[in-house]
Amino acid sequence: MKRQTHSIIGILGNPLKQSMSPILHNYWIKQNGLKYYYCKFQLENIKGINKAIKKLNIKGLNVTIPFKKQIIKYLDKVDKTSSLLQAVNTIKNNNGLLEGYNTDVKGFLQGLDEFKSLSINKPAVILGAGGACEAVIHSLKEKGIKEIYLMNRTTRKAEAIAEKYSKVLVKRWMKKDIINNVGLIVNTTSLGMIGYPSLPLSLSQVDRDTKVYDIVYNPLETQLIKEAKKNKLDYITGLSMFLGQAQESFKIWFKTKPTINRYLIDKIKNNIVSK
Ligand code: ATR
Repeated sequence: MKRQTHSIIGILGNPLKQSMSPILHNYWIKQNGLKYYYCKFQLENIKGINKAIKKLNIKGLNVTIPFKKQIIKYLDKVDKTSSLLQAVNTIKNNNGLLEGYNTDVKGFLQGLDEFKSLSINKPAVILGAGGACEAVIHSLKEKGIKEIYLMNRTTRKAEAIAEKYSKVLVKRWMKKDIINNVGLIVNTTSLGMIGYPSLPLSLSQVDRDTKVYDIVYNPLETQLIKEAKKNKLDYITGLSMFLGQAQESFKIWFKTKPTINRYLIDKIKNNIVSK
């Protein structure tokens, strides 16, 4: 039998059809001369996944929707951020010990740093209280933003999250006078994503220095980003956070932070289904 020379890493989630992670990580693997394959593991459920990871000697995994929270009980330990957010997006198989990490915070912050200036003294508004919301709250608090307004279509979900954090205030979904007077608007809802309706938000009345950050990256230019452009507002697309979290995961597995270049960005853009 031929000896296996490559080790396996990959992504665990469902659905994974549109995931760009394999393109990204397999590019970096090749660039760094590593003997690994990054594969998709689309599973119906993850019961007993810890045994499978160890048995198959999978060295590392990204974890995405809908398993980021469920995965925790199968891990041997989790880092501080994962424990606070109760969500893991990166697993490292450290010689049979499964360690959980969350790189979404660093990924979001990396995107945030692309704004030329961001006032931490003005409040930020986060739209959405789903899976990505807490990573954004955590990031903004780390950045020192004084006050965060949280809006969600289902208010009780926003309330349950706000209870965990100081200086996070729940406001009515889409309340205009709030949105029009903040320093930063972050979309963490699924609205704008391929297959979902657009975010019904006009930015024509917002403060001129309002920054807009949409964490949706498929399509690259959501309706919200188009609206930001139309109103000449500074904006960041979801590609920044996607690349940032992926770089951090790679660093956890291989102890080196991979680089991003024009070729790689074009490769991702060309593979985004809805471009
Ligand atoms: P989950 O909450 O199941 O983890 P998610 O994809 O992480 O799912 O989050 C979806 C987010 O998009 C939620 O904030 C959701 O609002 P609800 O909590 O009210 O469901 C929001 N969202 C999805 N579709 C929406 C819509 N049509 N209008 C407004 N918000 C929507």
